[in-house]
Amino acid sequence: MGSLDGRVCIVTGAGRGIGRSCAVKLASEGAAVVVNDLGVAVDGSVPDDAPANQVVEEIRKLGGKAVASFDNVADYDAAENIVRKALDEFGRLDVLVNVAGILRDRMVFNMSEDDWDSVMAVHAKGTFNTTKFASIYWRQAREGNYRLINFTSGSGLFGAPGQPNYAAAKMAIVGFTYSCANSLARYGVTSNAIAPGAATRMTATVPTERRRVIMEDDDPVRSPDNVAIPVTYLAGKESSWMNGWVVGASGYNITLYSNPEPIRVISANERWSLADAGKAMEASFRAAAESGTMHQRRQQG
Ligand SMILES: NC(=O)c1ccc[n+]([C@@H]2O[C@H](COP(=O)([O-])OP(=O)(O)OC[C@H]3O[C@@H](n4cnc5c(N)ncnc54)[C@H](O)[C@@H]3O)[C@@H](O)[C@H]2O)c1
Repeated sequence: MGSLDGRVCIVTGAGRGIGRSCAVKLASEGAAVVVNDLGVAVDGSVPDDAPANQVVEEIRKLGGKAVASFDNVADYDAAENIVRKALDEFGRLDVLVNVAGILRDRMVFNMSEDDWDSVMAVHAKGTFNTTKFASIYWRQAREGNYRLINFTSGSGLFGAPGQPNYAAAKMAIVGFTYSCANSLARYGVTSNAIAPGAATRMTATVPTERRRVIMEDDDPVRSPDNVAIPVTYLAGKESSWMNGWVVGASGYNITLYSNPEPIRVISANERWSLADAGKAMEASFRAAAESGTMHQRRQQG
């Protein structure tokens, strides 16, 4: 008996890297899995059916249930096909894991409109597209214990300087996840985001000197299989207590991130004068603004 027997999951971007690890682990726990992958290069070019097919074959050889989907998550109509595939093949949908992603890294002053639009399309719009069609089903079926698991990134949470498009898209996913947590809970859906860290072909594009943690890529600590563990827990019925959070999954660490909360407020009985606001802001905010690792990183540039 697996912990996910009878549950049906979609994993986008499941042909490689972290998505593949999630699909294999979910299937090993008894879930039937739609393995969606467009099979593109890291920059989103040259689609190929092979990665999704290979993962389906791998799952079936291990005795699991899986079906391949080659649809592009960034295409609104194609995203509906992904959800339809789960319903047609397996009769229901319990878990949507939005992993698909691409990179087009440039400093903001060098970034083209196409680099911006392409990354926003796959991450931000792609996450919306699949969720839209899954949520229609969840709202109608109303059985509950549904799970939305989106993929964000430390590049967004901490503001990676060479990834303005990716950082923005990944924070769009955090806002989207919070919104879904607030709107879909009444239909029995929990919504959480994962901020992963693992050695994949995506991280292989980051020059070694810019990586925050330097390790050999084949070190088991860097395996994407580590990320699949909290994802698989969140996919199960036992995680119903967790809704609207960002969870870090990197190496053997699983991290709960704080959600944004006001840390200082200055108030007046009428509109502030410019001079008074400036003085009061500096007096109240400066010590907090100049403390912490984010500030140190920004000072260093
Ligand atoms: N690897 C890390 O350390 C890391 C860190 C932070 C965030 N992430 C995020 O985790 C997720 C997985 O990353 P990864 O490192 O496994 O990358 P990866 O490149 O190994 O896998 C991404 C997969 O998504 C697929 N894909 C791309 N565009 C698609 C589309 N439009 N429709 C369907 N499939 C598409 C690709 O074909 C690929 O197989 C991504 O969202 C990424 O942004 C990864």
